[in-house]
This record gives sequence, structure tokens and C-alpha cells, in this order.
Amino acid sequence: MSTDKRTITVRAPVNIAVIKYWGKRDEKLIIPLNDSISGTLDMEQLCATTSVAISPSFKCNQMWLNGEEVDMTANERLFRCIQEVKTMVGTSQWPADHHLQIASRNNFPTAAGLASSAAGYACLMYALCRLFGVDDAERISTLARLGSGSACRSVYGGFVQWVAGNDHQSSIARQILDEEAWPSMRVLVLVVSDHRKDTSSSSGMKSSVETSDLMKKRVQDIVPQRITQMLTAIKERNFHDFAEITMRDSNQFHAICQDTYPPIRYMNDVSWSVVSLVHYFNKLYGCNKVAYTFDAGPNACLYVLEDVVPELLALITAIYGKSESKLEVQGIEYKKHPELNDSLQKYAVVNACPGALKYVISTKLGTGPQVLSTSFDANCLIEESGGIKK
Ligand code: PMV
Repeated sequence: MSTDKRTITVRAPVNIAVIKYWGKRDEKLIIPLNDSISGTLDMEQLCATTSVAISPSFKCNQMWLNGEEVDMTANERLFRCIQEVKTMVGTSQWPADHHLQIASRNNFPTAAGLASSAAGYACLMYALCRLFGVDDAERISTLARLGSGSACRSVYGGFVQWVAGNDHQSSIARQILDEEAWPSMRVLVLVVSDHRKDTSSSSGMKSSVETSDLMKKRVQDIVPQRITQMLTAIKERNFHDFAEITMRDSNQFHAICQDTYPPIRYMNDVSWSVVSLVHYFNKLYGCNKVAYTFDAGPNACLYVLEDVVPELLALITAIYGKSESKLEVQGIEYKKHPELNDSLQKYAVVNACPGALKYVISTKLGTGPQVLSTSFDANCLIEESGGIKK
């Protein structure tokens, strides 16, 4: 590798909030109205991978997302994030005649309510900072926040709290528990649709802040209480409480969407059928065995403990699997569960919805971003001579 040319390739995880961020106090600095809490998912199943290369031989800055070139100047937030890094490292490290090439790719559907922007910006900011030798997680997280709010949480593994704060310095994410600390925690992502959502989270939350009356109550009274309760549930590994707070918070977020004027609808009928299924399952057991949560899209994320997964997957397959082809489950595999009990069997027959799910991603909690390589090797998405690898 020539010395005037440097590169790095990193991967970063998706995170799924259990207390949702919805609404900004400051649109430009992306300071949220309330704290939020999320779980970071294992990168084996869901991650963004980004290569960044810098060289005086590149004629201009260029970026590709999932193989398509994007106009970097058209995206104000992207432009700003890159400028922030440039200012931070100074011209000695980033001379004016050096340009960037950035290639990023997700191993899951982009913009379908699967937190792709969180993984994407965490990945880009981690890559850029590490390329210039900056490895302070708090600094990287703060920069990632400027790209997409929830990205600040993807810089850490395990359970993460984003403390709203009231300015650029105080609005920071911090780890609550690492990915090993609650080892039986599992996540199933039920992919209902992998199409781009109609209302982006940015415009949706802006509209909610401007028009929803419920929003004020949520921000002032409900979230502060829920954050305290959720921190206790996570620290005590109390799944029952964890699940109830998670489900209530998801429901309230979607109620706020409905209270927005004009209303916003992210969940669809299949999403609602998952809500019913989870409540039925929990009622049958007399305690919470599963928790659902939905972001800005119809896909369901189920938090569940490991010992419950085989039976839950059997139920999901019985309801949503097509008779000719079983429902595809990607990721962590489980031993086949014995037959469903009579109640679950009946529920599956009455509520059968064959083909309504595209597939299921079976995963768990994981670490924050990782460096994959610092050379133009097989991991790198950019050619040493410039341009993306085909
Ligand atoms: O960071 P954004 O702008 O993609 O917003 C994320 C909003 C939700 O995913 C709905 C909630 C959250 O806290 O992740």
C-alpha cells in the first residue's frame, strides 16, 4: 500500500429501542426531547460495513451506499458529519488536496424500520474517526448522533441509554450492561416488509412534536418514570418488567404517531397480529415470556429469553409459514421444539396467516463497532485505485 493512501473497513451494529426516541428539542444538533434505551444486536446477523479511503489521488469525495453512488453534497447531515471530523483532525492529518471515498453496505433491508441509519452513521463515524486515530467512544458517539440520533447508541454493545441532555456535550449515550451481562437475552426480528417506509423518522417525529398533544405528557411524565423502571429491570435481569415496559413504550410511540396530525401509520395488520400473538402467549404462561417492539415500520422485534425461543418459533411458523415452504429463519438456530400444546395449536389454526412474514432473523445482543481491516484487502469495499469493488 502506498503511504499517501490510507483505508479502514469497519462494521457497526443495529440497535432496537425498548424506550423510544421520538422528537427533537434541537433539530440541528439532534438533541432529543427524552432519554431512550436500546439493545445493540449481534453483527453476525445485522450490520453495516463501511470502508473509508483517503488519498490525494482521488479527484473528489465520493460515496456509495449498497452499490449505488449517492450525492454527498445533497445530504446535509452527512456533509455536516464529515465536516466535523475534518475540523476535529485538522489539515495536518487531512490536507485540503486529499479526498475521501466511502463505500457502505448493509446486510439487511435499508430504511424498512430496521434501524439502518443508526448502523450506517455509527459505522461511518467510527470508520472516519479510527482512520485518523481517534478512538474515544464518547466522541464517536456524539458525532454519530449528528447523522442520525439513534446512531449514538450503536457505538456501544449490550444495553445502552441515550441521555437526552440539553446541548451537544451533554446529549450522550452510555452503556448500561455489556452484551455478556444478560446472556440468555435473544431477539427475533419478524420481517413483515423490506420496502422503504413512507414517512421517514425525521419528518415523522417533527410532525409529532408540532401536532401531538400526547407527546407532551410522554416527554414530561411518562418517559422519565419508565427510564428509571427500565434501568432497574435491566440491572436486575427482571424479564417480566422489562417486557411490560418495552411493550407499553412501543404502544405509546405508535399511539403518538396516530395522535399526530395528519396521523402516521407504521404498523400494519400483520404487525397487530404479532401484538395479539405475544399477549396470548404471555397470558397462557401467566407472566411475560416475550416482548414486542415496533420502530418506524411494520417489522416486529421480539425480545425473548433463550429457553422460550423454540416454542415461540414453532408458534410463529405455524401461524405465518406457508404450507408448501416453511418460514425461513436466518441466524441463530434452535433445536426443533416438540409439538405445540393444544391451546397454542388452536390459536395457530384460528389465526393462521400463511405467507404474511417474509422471513425471521434470529439474533442476540452484541458488541459495538469493530475494525475489520486497515488495508485494501478482501474486506475492503474500495479498490486501491479508487471506486467500489464490483
Ligand atoms: O435516529 P432516527 O432518526 O432513525 O430515529 C429513530 C426512531 C425510532 O427508531 C423509531 C426509535 C428509536 O429510539 O430508535
